[in-house]
Amino acid sequence: MIKHRVAVLISGNGSNLQALIDAANQPDYPAQIMLIISNKTDAYGVTRAKNAGIAAHVINHKDYSTREEFDNTLNKILKQYSIEFVCLAGFMRILSDGFVNEWRGRMLNIHPSLLPDFKGAHAVRDALAAGVKEVGCTVHLVTEEMDAGEIIAQARVPVFADDTVEKLHNRIHEQEHKLYPHALKILINNK
Ligand code: GAR
Repeated sequence: MIKHRVAVLISGNGSNLQALIDAANQPDYPAQIMLIISNKTDAYGVTRAKNAGIAAHVINHKDYSTREEFDNTLNKILKQYSIEFVCLAGFMRILSDGFVNEWRGRMLNIHPSLLPDFKGAHAVRDALAAGVKEVGCTVHLVTEEMDAGEIIAQARVPVFADDTVEKLHNRIHEQEHKLYPHALKILINNK
């Protein structure tokens, strides 16, 4: 079994990162998580990386005057580790067109809605406010347009009458943790 080299980019808790690490620890999973990059110094995902013995780099976007300079630094580190696939997992930065182009077809994002519904940074809150009966999560290829690339996999999640944003997001997270490893495997196997 060839294990392809994957980097995960995060900004926060990193529960999806953890799901990918756990999946990749299975001998028959076609990927290994080689590198974690966070743009936030205090992201708990960095601790998860360290606990798993995986290289973690914090690149604070505030240290860069342009998006392109920040992205160039990301790219350099990804190259240093000979990364083949990139997973965005709660990475709350928009990437420049050049970076997206470089990783076209090899970069995934997970989003907490049934895309194309509820794009953007507040998908769960927006879905709850809209009163929909069903939400979900989507793993898609990253393209220049936010939350709009080809969909690789989706999972559905019911909305209950007493839901809060937190309760609903927790229920979505449970599905995300199964969906992301599944979608990464699909992408790698189709390459
Ligand atoms: C996830 O629910 C992911 O779908 C969402 O951030 C959360 C990160 O959780 N992403 C977006 O909203 C992207 N627009 P995690 O840090 O525990 O993996």
